[in-house]
Amino acid sequence: MNANEISTGPAVVMRHVSRTYGDPANPVHALRDVSVDIRRSEFTAVMGPSGSGKSTLMNVMAGLDEATSGQIWLGQTPIVGLDDTARTLLRRTNIGFVFQSFNLIPTLTADENIRLPFVLAGHKPDAVQQAWIAHLVGSLGLRDRLDHLPSQLSGGQQQRVAIVRALAGRPTIILADEPTGALDTRTSREVLTLLTTAAREYGQGIAMVTHDPVAASYADRILVLADGRIVGEYRGLDPHQISDLLINLQGAAA
Ligand SMILES: Nc1ncnc2c1ncn2[C@@H]1O[C@H](COP(=O)(O)OP(=O)(O)OP(=O)(O)O)[C@@H](O)[C@H]1O
Ligand SMILES: [Mg+2]
Repeated sequence: MNANEISTGPAVVMRHVSRTYGDPANPVHALRDVSVDIRRSEFTAVMGPSGSGKSTLMNVMAGLDEATSGQIWLGQTPIVGLDDTARTLLRRTNIGFVFQSFNLIPTLTADENIRLPFVLAGHKPDAVQQAWIAHLVGSLGLRDRLDHLPSQLSGGQQQRVAIVRALAGRPTIILADEPTGALDTRTSREVLTLLTTAAREYGQGIAMVTHDPVAASYADRILVLADGRIVGEYRGLDPHQISDLLINLQGAAA
């Protein structure tokens, strides 16, 4: 909201991160030696075939899953080696999640869902945070929907509530896994435009997994994963070029 609050430093730094599942005799290498920075003020799309490690990348970045090796910093804080409690606290203040399935609490109103992260953190939004939430709610057209339960909202409205909740605490990074997967074209565009605005105008770092070339074209840069490695980084591609890129990648893997 305030220009001098915008920072362009890294939101997440990963160095030589690997994540291996399964028993050592028959390991699954979900991430292999991944080094990447996700900057504040930048909207990054993460693409790649099914099973290439996209969700693992998000989960490891968020401290929801532990790296097998390598180093990760969330803002200034190294997260490898932190215990569960410390990681939960770090996540609460530094990460906003948006999922394909909205993940709203069905028994809470839109307004209560938006405020839930503050309740969990044990403090009410202060005046600045209240104003920020009101701004987000207004700009997403949710003002007269705040008293509704999720079941009384359309899919697009539910996703907008989830996005306000993710943005409300001004986290270091927003991690979004297929946020437009369940939305119609028009609502998808609204959501993507909002994420773009959050990065450009409010300095929000965003990493979004998507299979949709149109959705990815809203991002500032596209990271492509294949078989647990980052195999490409692109900027300024249109949806057509993105879909060609993915088709070529599938062809190369076949
Ligand atoms: N908890 C787990 N235990 C064992 N293997 C896992 C686990 N989680 C992921 N994997 C494996 O790691 C690899 C990467 O999985 P991941 O979920 O990150 O892929 P993805 O790129 O998100 O795929 P999709 O596009 O289908 O969501 C896959 O081979 C998967 O089977
Ligand atoms: Mg996935």
